[in-house]
Amino acid sequence: MKKIIIAIDGFSSTGKSTIAKQLATALAYIYVDTGAMYRAVTLYAMRKGFIDEHHFEVNDLVAALDEIHLSFTYNEKVGFAEMYLNGENVEKEIRTLQVSDYVSKVAAVPEVRYQLVKQQQQMGKEKGIVMDGRDIGTVVFPNAELKIFMTASPEKRAIRRYKELIDKGDDVKYEDVLRNVQNRDYIDSHREDSPLRKAEGAVTIDNSDMGLKEQFERILSLAQRTI
Ligand code: C5P
Repeated sequence: MKKIIIAIDGFSSTGKSTIAKQLATALAYIYVDTGAMYRAVTLYAMRKGFIDEHHFEVNDLVAALDEIHLSFTYNEKVGFAEMYLNGENVEKEIRTLQVSDYVSKVAAVPEVRYQLVKQQQQMGKEKGIVMDGRDIGTVVFPNAELKIFMTASPEKRAIRRYKELIDKGDDVKYEDVLRNVQNRDYIDSHREDSPLRKAEGAVTIDNSDMGLKEQFERILSLAQRTI
């Protein structure tokens, strides 16, 4: 059977990664969460003191990019590949609201994007991959055989994200999560380098009122028709 590249882009907390993981499992494809890569670079910048609520030393981060080594290692227990930063499993640390607050600023730096896009293109060389992010269908794999653009109202997305964080035991307020979702939408779609937009030929899935099963079946059938 022919192997393809499936690019899933969209706003934050649209459930891209849940669908992408299910799809990769069903097709026996590799799943790559590119948001995790931008989050890991952000965590590195926070730990080094390059970014906080008052300042962002872009030049220091750019100068340190060669020292940041990212990799994914499959964890059988959870059923997906976890993010490693310089050999350390950072899967939990990169999901906090604090990292979410800074990540869009870090992801707007062209040198950061250049490095990560290069690595992502390498990962997809053999095809048989489901990759999710903001620029997969527009920049990373403009020739992907199947492109999906996922969206939902900011309020619905904020409620989902809020529940996820509360379930994990994080002490967060719904208003802060909503503000974060709206800020990231704004920065991600207005940045100069690779702004979030629907790729040419992408199929839009608005899941404001759509269950996971319905979305999964719709995208799986699109994939099967393409393969
Ligand atoms: O997908 P996730 O919400 O984890 O992504 C975190 C952030 O990383 C996004 O808000 C965006 O700023 C950035 N990102 C990006 N390009 C990608 C994936 C994520 O700019 N391909």
